[in-house]
Amino acid sequence: SNPQMGSEHHPILRAADCRAKGGAPGFKVAILGAAGGIGQPLSMLMKMNPLVSVLHLYDVVNAPGVTADVSHMDTGAVVRGFLGQPQLESALTGMDLVIIPAGVPRKPGMTRDDLFNINAGIVRTLCEGIAKSCPNAIVNLISNPVNSTVPIAAEVFKKAGTYDPKKLLGVTMLDVVRANTFVAEVLGLDPREVSVPVVGGHAGVTILPLLSQVKPPCSFTPEETEYLTKRIQDGGTEVVQAKAGAGSATLSMAYAAVKFADLCLRGLKGDAGIVECAFVASQVTDLPFFATKVRLGRGGAEEVFQLGPLNEYERVGLEKAKKELAVSIQKGVSFIKK
Ligand code: NAD
Ligand code: LMR
Repeated sequence: SNPQMGSEHHPILRAADCRAKGGAPGFKVAILGAAGGIGQPLSMLMKMNPLVSVLHLYDVVNAPGVTADVSHMDTGAVVRGFLGQPQLESALTGMDLVIIPAGVPRKPGMTRDDLFNINAGIVRTLCEGIAKSCPNAIVNLISNPVNSTVPIAAEVFKKAGTYDPKKLLGVTMLDVVRANTFVAEVLGLDPREVSVPVVGGHAGVTILPLLSQVKPPCSFTPEETEYLTKRIQDGGTEVVQAKAGAGSATLSMAYAAVKFADLCLRGLKGDAGIVECAFVASQVTDLPFFATKVRLGRGGAEEVFQLGPLNEYERVGLEKAKKELAVSIQKGVSFIKK
């Protein structure tokens, strides 16, 4: 029996099957957790990306419905759905890029670390699948707590003998998207013209916007610096509270995830000068993982950039960020090593 869902397998159809098999230009992308709050709009937006030729949608629930729905969009990518653990291997085989938004989201009053107990096991299982079925794929990890799930993924891949640090990227793009938006508001600029590096990690004080390095060059009063830093660090919590129990950021996250995935695909394609912030294996600080700007290329995060000059406010922030990050990273590593 055919484990896949997707309209191209109806016997009367010819073209779609040819398209999928015949090496249409583009990349093969899997979304794990595709039926979730992030997964659904992310699936829709990836179906619209011209660099994607095959889109695999995997979840433990509702994958058939999301797949049927998205597959009716008249864009190039061939869409196939996969439901439940027995279909994980087929979902992953041949993939160039795997995006992981699987796992539970926060409710008001919770920290991202409160998600560890459930999401750590989910990420481990999915990464074991990646090690087995597409060990060379680039992985974009969204599931929280990112500061711990990325170290978990790294340990799973090490155990399997497939670890390539350049290909494992924790997605911190939403912090950059928020920083661009909030800084643009303060400066009275169009957010599309603003670029803010956000380094460190993806939780509370580990999120460190470098306002001294904003482009276009500008300066902030101490009050503006304090307001912007806090707003960017608490952006996730702002959404969790506004949704009042119905989950966390999904639409802005899906937007940020496709923005980041598109950069990864352009890097894979060989485009030059693709640079964005991500949480990666790093020697920029004394911690084994850290988010900074990276250059994306055929091999993933081919170059990890230094922090650049920090002001006093940012140096203090960096020490706080490192302290919390060290604990979160160790917690992830221990989860697999024990
Ligand atoms: P959601 O509950 O709406 O969706 C999660 C999906 O994951 C569900 O469809 C669920 O069935 C699926 N899932 C659960 N276990 C799975 C498994 N073993 N294999 C495959 N799929 C599985 O949650 P959401 O709002 O989409 O958020 C998902 C995750 O993303 C959360 O952990 C959240 O904290 C995180 N998140 C991260 C960022 C970031 O910036 N990195 C931003 C927003 C949310
Ligand atoms: C976010 O930053 O929006 C996500 O990490 C979700 C959350 O729990 O805040």
